[in-house]
Amino acid sequence: MTDNTEQDQIVAEIGALHTTATAAAGPLPVHALRDFGPYRSSALRHPTHELVRADPEEIELVSPAFGHSDDLTIQHDGEPLGERIIVTGRVLDGEGRPVRNQLVEVWQANSAGRYVHKRDQHPAPLDPNFTGVGRTITGDDGSYRFVTIKPGPYPWKNHRNAWRPAHIHFSLFGSEFTQRLVTQMYFPSDPLFALDPIYQSIVDPDARQRLIAAYDHDVSEPEWALGYRWDIVLTGSKATWMEPEEGEHA
Ligand SMILES: [Fe+2]
Repeated sequence: MTDNTEQDQIVAEIGALHTTATAAAGPLPVHALRDFGPYRSSALRHPTHELVRADPEEIELVSPAFGHSDDLTIQHDGEPLGERIIVTGRVLDGEGRPVRNQLVEVWQANSAGRYVHKRDQHPAPLDPNFTGVGRTITGDDGSYRFVTIKPGPYPWKNHRNAWRPAHIHFSLFGSEFTQRLVTQMYFPSDPLFALDPIYQSIVDPDARQRLIAAYDHDVSEPEWALGYRWDIVLTGSKATWMEPEEGEHA
């Protein structure tokens, strides 16, 4: 039997921090706590000083590589292994208005839970027909749509027997390059939610829920792919949680 003492400790720490946050005065923060002990490595890299304003002129000299690649299953000669899915939704502002012409980028593990990344060396197979990176632009109604493969959960080194729930990383640039936002989308009913200190670093249960896509049978296509719907709200009290800065890819 696996010794899950460390996992039990993580879950206990998550519970204690949620209790503390809930007991504090005022509304729960909808964004992840930067200093969240159960997410071990965050202690070494969360900001300890006020954020520094970047010079937009300098950043805008480097433009993103545009180009449509919204189907991650046709980027190679063959078809990737795994469960083909469609992920679609709308990017909205705090008033529910569509955010048009927005660059949406995704990256993810393959169906076996392996990233094409030199730091991911865990014993799951790479898929020669799947790189796991895509991009698209939102339409006039703020909608985006990707065809991809459902990513697998994968182990990471936060603690013994630590596994990330299956997720897709999303990046949105906002209306300026200096507003880049990064977040993660999860799949419904994942048994790893309660055990994952990254997901649980958001103490507001409603804000956590907003990171989970809904299965949508109207998006599914017969004999071809299952559909998921996930809207991203950029601002306001219903905002989708965004990572405070670019960190490790976990
Ligand atoms: Fe990841």
